[in-house]
Amino acid sequence: MFSKSRHRLGTLVLVITTAPLIACLSGCGTSIEPSAHAAPTTTGASMKAAAYNNEGELLRPTDHREWVFVGAPVTPNDMNDGKAAFPEFHNVYIDPASFASYKRTGEFPQGTVILKELVSVGGKSMASGNGYFQGEFISLEAMVKDEERFANEPGGWAFFRFGEAPHYEPTGKRMETTSCNTCHAGADEDYVFTDTYPVLRAAKANNEQVQ
Ligand code: HEC
Repeated sequence: MFSKSRHRLGTLVLVITTAPLIACLSGCGTSIEPSAHAAPTTTGASMKAAAYNNEGELLRPTDHREWVFVGAPVTPNDMNDGKAAFPEFHNVYIDPASFASYKRTGEFPQGTVILKELVSVGGKSMASGNGYFQGEFISLEAMVKDEERFANEPGGWAFFRFGEAPHYEPTGKRMETTSCNTCHAGADEDYVFTDTYPVLRAAKANNEQVQ
C-alpha cells in the first residue's frame, strides 16, 4: 500500500515539473487561449458550466463528454421520410453540478446547461441483433437556464448551436426563441423533455419510483 502511494506521488511530481517545459515549447509568454475565451463572464457563483464572451455567445464546454449522460433519443432518418428534423441519435448531457442539485431539489437550478450532441446511425446490424447503432458526431446544441440573463426567454431558457462536427465552434450562437424554445415550452418539465430520460426520472428528488 505504502509503496504504491509513493509511486503515485512520484508520477504527480513528474507531471508538475514537466508541465512548464511543455508549455514553453508551445510558446512561452504568448497566450494559447482562443480570443473568444478572452473575457468570459458569469452571472453568479453557481454558473460554472455556462460562460459567455462579450457578444453573449455561450463558450463551448470542452469536457461535455465527461458530464452526466442522461440518454440518447433516436429519430432515424429511415423512420422520418429520409430526413429527420434532428438526425439521428441525440446524446444528452447535463453539467454535473446541476445534476447534483436536481437530485437534491427536484428542480433545474439557475445555470443548468443541457447539451444535445447529434450522432448519425452508423449501422443497423451487429452480433447482438438488428437495430440502430451510433456512427459519427454530427453537431452540438445547448440549452441554458438563467432567468436573470435570459429574462425575456420563456422559462429563462436560452438555446445555442455550436455548428457541425468535427470542428465545433468555440462559441455557440444564440437561437431565436421560435426556433427552439417555443417547441420546448410543451416539454414535460421546465422546458426539458424529462420523460424520455430514465436517468433524470430516477434522480429526481422525492421520486417514488424504484431507484
Ligand atoms: C419541434 C419541437 C422541437 C424543436 C423545434 C426543438 N426541439 Fe429540442 N427537443 C425536442 C424533443 C421532443 C426533445 C427530446 C426528444 C428528442 O431528443 O428527440 C428535445 C431535446 C433537446 C435537448 C435535450 C434536453 C431535452 O429537453 O430533452 C436539447 C439541449 C435541445 N432539444 C435543444 C434544442 C435546440 C438548440 C433547438 C433549436 C435549434 C431545439 N432543441 C429545437 C423538441 C424540439
